[in-house]
Amino acid sequence: MHVVRTPASARAIARTLLRPVGFVPTMGALHRGHRTLVERAQRENASVAVSIFVNPLQFGPSEDYERYPREFEKDAALLDELGVALLYSPSVERMYAPGFSTRVNVGVLAERFEGAARPGHFDGVATVVAKLLHAIEPTTMYLGQKDAQQTAVLRRMIADLDVPVDVVVCPTTREADGLALSSRNAYLSAEERAAAPSLHRALALAAEALLHGQDPDVTMTRARSVLLPPLAWDYLSVVDVERFEPVRGHTRPALVIGAARAGAVRLIDNVSVAGIDERDPLVTPERDRDRLIRA
Ligand code: PAF
Repeated sequence: MHVVRTPASARAIARTLLRPVGFVPTMGALHRGHRTLVERAQRENASVAVSIFVNPLQFGPSEDYERYPREFEKDAALLDELGVALLYSPSVERMYAPGFSTRVNVGVLAERFEGAARPGHFDGVATVVAKLLHAIEPTTMYLGQKDAQQTAVLRRMIADLDVPVDVVVCPTTREADGLALSSRNAYLSAEERAAAPSLHRALALAAEALLHGQDPDVTMTRARSVLLPPLAWDYLSVVDVERFEPVRGHTRPALVIGAARAGAVRLIDNVSVAGIDERDPLVTPERDRDRLIRA
């Protein structure tokens, strides 16, 4: 595995990789969810590149940038073992040289829900991912469904800036009790951890009820009551997958999204409202690697 620290060396090595190249951007502290993304990228590409960069631009002043888990040696060993060809992990100084002042702002989509709770967060995400894509020039980028609004923001940025990359969204990886995997789950107290799966239960209940045509107001009230203390709702809504505009009831394709506070930790999750025989509105079906390599 090549480990590179600068955009120029990332681009130089990436250009020698067999194409198609799958790319998984991460902030490290890799868990089973990241592993699933890498394995899917491997099934669908000739080479896989991964980035590890804890991006200060996407953290608010009172957020956990300083204490965000950093486990570079362990992460690099795992990626090497998985057969990743290129690991790009620049320093903050190399990513944002003195005088850096550009921001990629995708507009109103980045101001709703997570964007409202975390002002500037999506500008930071869009900016760093634009730079990562520019350095790696991958064929396809792999993202997780858990961060559904992030995937919508990045798809918008990619379309608007004519970046020649496909996006594949992979299903959320969950604990056995339904909690979506996240590097931040490690911050939960025992009491918060026990209550945390109730977020997914609430969203799944709402999605199921809406799918069966139940009244949206009654459904949302019932779903709200499923969340267990000490968790508290930040938002619960039904939105369209592209613009994240609230929709009433089950307007296809839709997502039930929710965020809950557990002490200092925010948990986010979402469930697609997809019927039997209906394509999931967010997740990308697995593709045929041989056909992709021939293309
Ligand atoms: O989802 C993440 O881990 C980050 O937001 C990303 C996409 C790596 C950008 O820093």
